[in-house]
Amino acid sequence: MSQTYLKLNNGLEMPQFGLGVYLIPDGKETIAACLNAFKLGVRHIDTAHAYQNERGVGEALKQSGLKREEVWITTKLWPTEYGEGKTLKAIDKMLERLQTDYIDLLLLHQQVGDYIGAWKDMEKAVADSKVKSIGISNFKENLEDLLAHAKIKPAAIQVECHPYFPQHELKKRIAEYGTVLESWYPLGHGDPQLINEPVFTKLAQKYGKTNVQIILRWHIQEGNSVFPKTTNLQHMHDNFDIFDFELSAEDMAEIAKMNKGKRYYTATLEEQKHFTQWKPED
Ligand SMILES: NC(=O)c1ccc[n+]([C@@H]2O[C@H](COP(=O)([O-])OP(=O)(O)OC[C@H]3O[C@@H](n4cnc5c(N)ncnc54)[C@H](OP(=O)(O)O)[C@@H]3O)[C@@H](O)[C@H]2O)c1
Repeated sequence: MSQTYLKLNNGLEMPQFGLGVYLIPDGKETIAACLNAFKLGVRHIDTAHAYQNERGVGEALKQSGLKREEVWITTKLWPTEYGEGKTLKAIDKMLERLQTDYIDLLLLHQQVGDYIGAWKDMEKAVADSKVKSIGISNFKENLEDLLAHAKIKPAAIQVECHPYFPQHELKKRIAEYGTVLESWYPLGHGDPQLINEPVFTKLAQKYGKTNVQIILRWHIQEGNSVFPKTTNLQHMHDNFDIFDFELSAEDMAEIAKMNKGKRYYTATLEEQKHFTQWKPED
């Protein structure tokens, strides 16, 4: 079995599995992580302006020798870059940092600031072929407002999602738009309590896999895109080695019982407004 793809609402196919590079320092660490992932066959990198490592991702893309169209790059705009006119300039800077002439998927990182103005510019960037697909991240209270103003409906929504918080309610809210869900903190940010849940240990023994592989396979079968962060070569190899087995319907039902409505990140909309106070460096 080989890696799987998700068909987006614009017809494009995105590799379902990728490497997340949040908290990987820019420069040699990000370059090495991406190059190692590419060597394994991973073809999807999830970065953001706020991670301050887009340059490393772009450099790895260049050094890899892969054709641009072989790799899927997702990046995200920060609220201080939102606004009609302003966002287009921010996109041009992103393209420079990534050393590319297009972005596969561009997301609004947060639901605060002038996200409607930003979305208008993102739609223009699609028309100008600078961006292929556009989407959102961390939208909750302002989701329907964005959807009401959007001519292009979001191709993806990236949110915290793992077996303790599987996001089934959100999936119902976006179902009619064909928006795919992308899981952040897919391993609970590496939470040992989640990873070592007895259900996963039992299923790991059943399938001859690790607990983490069972969790990642659950994301895949839930239909989510997943891009765990790791710089550890063995972890990277194992994380991608999840396309040769399938969890049964009974196993999926057992994992569904682990939903306890637990989020690791709990900032209120009011608290999220502080995101407009911090500006990532160009
Ligand atoms: N849109 C947003 O607001 C948002 C927020 C957070 C994250 N994200 C995206 O989602 C990605 C993933 O989230 P995350 O990095 O915070 O959390 P995560 O992927 O759930 O967890 C990462 C942690 O799990 C460990 N890990 C990875 N593979 C492992 C394995 N096979 N065995 C044991 N431990 C393993 C890593 O340590 P090692 O490095 O030691 O392997 C790291 O400490 C990010 O990189 C980013 O792209 C987006």
